[in-house]
This record gives sequence, C-alpha cells and structure tokens, in this order.
Amino acid sequence: MNDLLDIADAERLTEDQVHALYRRFVSRSQVSLVGAFGFGHDRVESAEGCWITLRDGRRILDFTGGIGVLNHGHNHPRILAARRNFAEQRRMEVHKNYLSPYVAALSHNLARLLPGDLDVSYFPNSGAEAVEGAVKLAYKYHAGRRGTVLHTDISFHGKLLGAGSLTASPELHFDYPRIPGTDYFGYGDLDSFALALDRHRAIDGGSDVYAVVLEPLSASSLRECSGEFLREVRRLCTEQDIVLVFDEVYTGWGRTGALFHFMHHPGLVPDVVTMSKSFGGGKASIAGYVAREPVFRRAYDNLQDATLHSTTYYGFGEETATALEAVAVAVEDDYPGRARKLGAVLEAGLRDIAVRHPALVASTAGSGALHGVFLKAGPASLDRLVPLLPAALGRDPRLRTKLITGAVIAALYRDHGVLTFFGSNHGLPLIVAPPLVAEEPEAETFLRALDEVLGQGAVRLLGRLAGELAAGRLRP
Ligand SMILES: Cc1ncc(COP(=O)(O)O)c(C=O)c1O
Repeated sequence: MNDLLDIADAERLTEDQVHALYRRFVSRSQVSLVGAFGFGHDRVESAEGCWITLRDGRRILDFTGGIGVLNHGHNHPRILAARRNFAEQRRMEVHKNYLSPYVAALSHNLARLLPGDLDVSYFPNSGAEAVEGAVKLAYKYHAGRRGTVLHTDISFHGKLLGAGSLTASPELHFDYPRIPGTDYFGYGDLDSFALALDRHRAIDGGSDVYAVVLEPLSASSLRECSGEFLREVRRLCTEQDIVLVFDEVYTGWGRTGALFHFMHHPGLVPDVVTMSKSFGGGKASIAGYVAREPVFRRAYDNLQDATLHSTTYYGFGEETATALEAVAVAVEDDYPGRARKLGAVLEAGLRDIAVRHPALVASTAGSGALHGVFLKAGPASLDRLVPLLPAALGRDPRLRTKLITGAVIAALYRDHGVLTFFGSNHGLPLIVAPPLVAEEPEAETFLRALDEVLGQGAVRLLGRLAGELAAGRLRP
C-alpha cells in the first residue's frame, strides 16, 4: 500500500480534491449542504483568536464561537504552550494503571470554582457522553428503583442514542429507539413541570422520577429559564429526592456572563452539572460532569461500582492537562466579565438593528456573549425556490425561515468576510457568539456588516440565493 495519503498530502489537497474525497469517502450530502455557502468552497490556511486566514490570504471574522468550543478563540497561545510542553516532556497519555495527577488537579479546581458540594468529577470526551454519564449516575443513585427521566420540550442534549432520547429539537427528525421512561415538560413552565411530576407518581405515592435534565439557558433557541422557575424546580427535586442535572455543555466557561449560566442565581446548586466545548480551550475534546458529593458517593462510591461507568478515552493526559490550562485562562482573564462587556455592545447594537430592519428582524434574544437574531419567515413567494431544492429540504416546514437566515449568513460571508451560523432548534436564530477574546472593534465590525446585509432587503438577498441554487450548487 503506497498510495496512502500522509499529513503533507492532506495539507496540499485542493478544494476540488477535498470535495471529491468527501463525496466518495465521507458524505456527498455534507458537501452539498456546506457547498451551498461560500465557505464550503474555501480552504483554511490557519486560525488565530477570532480570525481565520484563508489560503488566498483573505481574513474571515469568526463569530460562530466554534459552536461553543471557542471561548478562548482559535489556537490560544497558552493552550498551545500547554500541549507543546506535555508532548515535549513525553508525559504519559493513558493512566488506567496509575492515578492521573491531571485528573486529580482538574477535579480539585472544578470543586473550588463551583458552588456548594459540587465536588466530584468525571471527564469523558463529548457533551452527549457527559449528559449520559449524569443520567446513569442518577439512575444508579436510586439503585434502579425509579424509572423516569424528565427533559424539556425544546431540549438539546446531544445525538447519541441516550442523549438523543432526551432531546426534543426538530434537528433530530428521525425517530431512533429511545431509552425507556422519558417524558417532557414545557421549558420554563412550572405548571407543566408539576404536571409531569404528578404523571410519574410511584405506587407508594413517592416519585418515580430519578432525574430532571435541564438547560438553564437553551443555547440553540436562546430561551432562558427564570430564576424563580429554576429555584422552584430545585425545591421540588430536593423534596422528592430527584437528581437535578443542569446541562451547561454550551453555556459554560463564561459564555453568558457567569462562569456557568446557573451561577447568575446565587445559592442555586444542581445535583450534577455537565460541561464540554470550551472546557478544552478550543483544542482538546473533553467534557465533564461534576456531581454533588453525596449523590456521587451513594451511586458509585464502593469497590464493586468504582468502574461501572467509564470509557477508554476518559480523562486522558493531554486532554485533562489542556483543560487545566483552559480553566486557568477563563478564570484569570475573567471570561465572564469579558462576555458581559462584549454582550453590552452586542445587545445594544442588535436592538438598534432590530429597530432599523423591522421587515426582516422578528426579535433578538441572548445573554452575555451569546445572542440570536430571529428573522421573519419571508414571503410565500419563497415557495418558488422549492423546486430548486433537494426534495427532503423542500418538505421542511421551517423552510422559509431557513432560506432567509441562510441568505443572510451567505451574504455576511461573501460580502463582509464574517462567519456565522444558525441554531437548529425551535426558532432557527442566526447565532451571534464571538470568541471571548474578541474586542469591541470586532463586535462593531460584525454589527456594521449585519446592518448592511439586512439593508439589502429580503428580495435582493433571496434573489442572490436563488441564483446560486439555480446554478446547482445545492446538489442532493
Ligand atoms: C446543551 C448541549 N448539551 C449537549 C450537547 C452535546 O454535546 P456533543 O455534541 O459534544 O455530544 C450540546 C451540543 O451542542 C449542547 O449544546
């Protein structure tokens, strides 16, 4: 076999070669979807902070925040140095036979940073694994005697079978088998929550619910639970001995103006909090759950159960060392404060933009440096574009909102070199989430670009999109 490609070969591939290899060996549809936008035809040379440099030298302002991963921006120098040191010292990656000093230190630091007795940590690789670990912990806490886990009607907890069972996002539009015993309540709706608890009474009058899984701020739809709601959920869960899991996979590490979003509410402590994304400083694929000590002890703290829940790659050396540095940077550089500062500029600017473009903008929402712009669905005449689309997309009931939001994203990139994306949950907002290393001038650049693009008006924006679709860029 001498036709295998090496790293240098991969880095030399042209855009056409990457497309051809993807079409043949990865996913043709992925090429079609990404290829419908300008960025699907560009090759990235390097990335630093909130800027991406393309092969042809163009610079792109990245306002996606790497879908939650890039609070530290691309290739933060302290994160790079931590990883370089780890490799140069030939530190050991796999720790199964030895206890890991990095896991020990990282768990200690999380316990110091989180309130109450949120003290015991576990470090898998993805957000969905963290959520599933938390739900398994809750089930074991009740020794399998309770059978119901509650989630919300707009939840997003990941795409594995377990986390997907707790996800109510329209993004998961195909019904895979679900884990047994799931039910849901209305996001932020106390009456709906109380009804859900009532539906799952045990025969002895106690509760059959072992866990409630909840995003205090739903990053994909930009909706937020009130403090009153969260505190009442906490009270009811305590009263009925239900393990309360806050999913902060997206909202952690300063993004919304507090280290974790629930920490906007002093004294509020879940039984388990999940985290990932920027926990790895934009480099390491690491996630975590942190449990209250008594919950963890009762679930797993005996010799027989000590390894009941694990995966091969949990707590690997370089990943946990990187997370140690990522956490240090987030704390020392005051990422919550940076998010609040950026947020003030973005919030005022977006509010102004909503006023200036009432025909296009329905509303804006957000917290700290995580905002969403909800665009109006667009005129019925948009349905004329449907024959230009692959059949499956044409049947999407949210198609008009997707088209207008997609047209804005395409124009921001094409005309202004600004990279954005949209949330795929209920509402489909254009997500505004700069890395927290961004400064005010970058926020202003983004706002000016969005203002200009919306100023083009729906007809022109969609006309340009239609032209690209007619040219056959969105092939099935
Ligand atoms: C709130 C929340 N939970 C869980 C997940 C799943 O994380 P992952 O994609 O790493 O499995 C996500 C991913 O976006 C998320 O936003």
